[in-house]
Amino acid sequence: MSDKTSKPLRLGIAGLGTVGAGVVKIVRQKAALLEERSGSAIAISAVCARNRDTDRGVSLKDYAWEDDPVKLATRNDVDVFVELMGGSDGPAKAATEAALKAGKDVVTANKALLAHHGQELAELAEANDAVLRFEAAVAGGIPIIKSLTEGLAGNDIERVMGVMNGTCNYILTRMEDAGLTYDEAFAEADGLGYLEADPNLDVGGIDAGHKLSLLSAIAYGTQVNFDAVELEGIGCVTIEDIRQAADMGYRIKLLGVSRMTGRGLEQSMTPCLVPATSPLGQLVGGTNMVVVEGDQVGQVVLRGAGAGEGPTASAVMGDVMDIARGLRVTTFGKPASKLVPAQPANTNPPAPYYLRLSLSDKPGALAKVAAVLGEAGVSIHRMRQYDHENDMAPVLIVTHKTTRAALSDALSGMDQTGVVSGTPVALRIEEL
Ligand code: HSE
Repeated sequence: MSDKTSKPLRLGIAGLGTVGAGVVKIVRQKAALLEERSGSAIAISAVCARNRDTDRGVSLKDYAWEDDPVKLATRNDVDVFVELMGGSDGPAKAATEAALKAGKDVVTANKALLAHHGQELAELAEANDAVLRFEAAVAGGIPIIKSLTEGLAGNDIERVMGVMNGTCNYILTRMEDAGLTYDEAFAEADGLGYLEADPNLDVGGIDAGHKLSLLSAIAYGTQVNFDAVELEGIGCVTIEDIRQAADMGYRIKLLGVSRMTGRGLEQSMTPCLVPATSPLGQLVGGTNMVVVEGDQVGQVVLRGAGAGEGPTASAVMGDVMDIARGLRVTTFGKPASKLVPAQPANTNPPAPYYLRLSLSDKPGALAKVAAVLGEAGVSIHRMRQYDHENDMAPVLIVTHKTTRAALSDALSGMDQTGVVSGTPVALRIEEL
């Protein structure tokens, strides 16, 4: 063990929301256990938040108070700066940089910060002989960062998949189980306090996209490239799609997939159909799941709470305990200078797609759609016209494997047929 472990490890915690308060509670309530396990006492020197007077359900009287997170981050009595404020820029970034420049280790739950500035912060950490850890930033309490950087380090990672936004999974589950519309399920999630202050971070797929970009960097040894994640939120999914997917043995999930291909790094966070009987298909409510496929280990499935006080504070403490034990792992599993720029794959590999369209119920309409698909090289695997609404006929098509480009050509062609009303819904079917 390094000499960092022979004396108390002193934390400075910035951000005392749900997660920050949870971390303070663990440090206070499990002091003996933490010391036994790590070999050093875990202490809190100082804390910082926007409002000093809020009742957080835990006493802060033993800790110095700082109004300025940068001051907190650079205090002489702080060894580890714990950043739980959030936000990709502003105070979180300034304080993290200040801590690293001062040679302090940093533990953060901030996925947006790392998705946008991960490479420069990893370089800064290494230049200052500090570690930057972020277990709590991805999939809440699931120890996926540790699994990828340590337990699976002997593998070439072939694919990472997952449901990494509990709010979206909750909304989709409630639509399926309770027959709620998207708006009703969204309102229910809002009432339960599940949504981020900017709900588009959740339902637009951005929060989950941030997480996927961090996993890709570790999995493939690339610099974080969030901008290259293909993002689509769940707002396009209707109760009708959920019902039709269920009827065919699928569930709709906001699914993240990343894999390194000969064409470059593929990263997508989009609503997809997955087999209902698969582990991802079985995942209900606000739970998260990450699936990793390695060349040696095969498939590993990790499932657990993706948010909330206990699970997220648990992940923060995992990082703190590693530091207390003297474990100094690079931010993304290899030195920052060895991470290569991620060349995004400009084309997706072929996949089957689910299409739902509303057709004019008149002679030749279906033939026109079939012709457009044929001209674009998209082959129909299954098709059904399942109901009638006035003079419109909803049609469901499952394609054979096709590329996204061919499908886009077909969708543009449908626009010109004059028999398709509205925008067709097109969702990838992910084979697991
Ligand atoms: N809003 C996220 C979720 C948790 O619903 O999973 C924080 O990333």
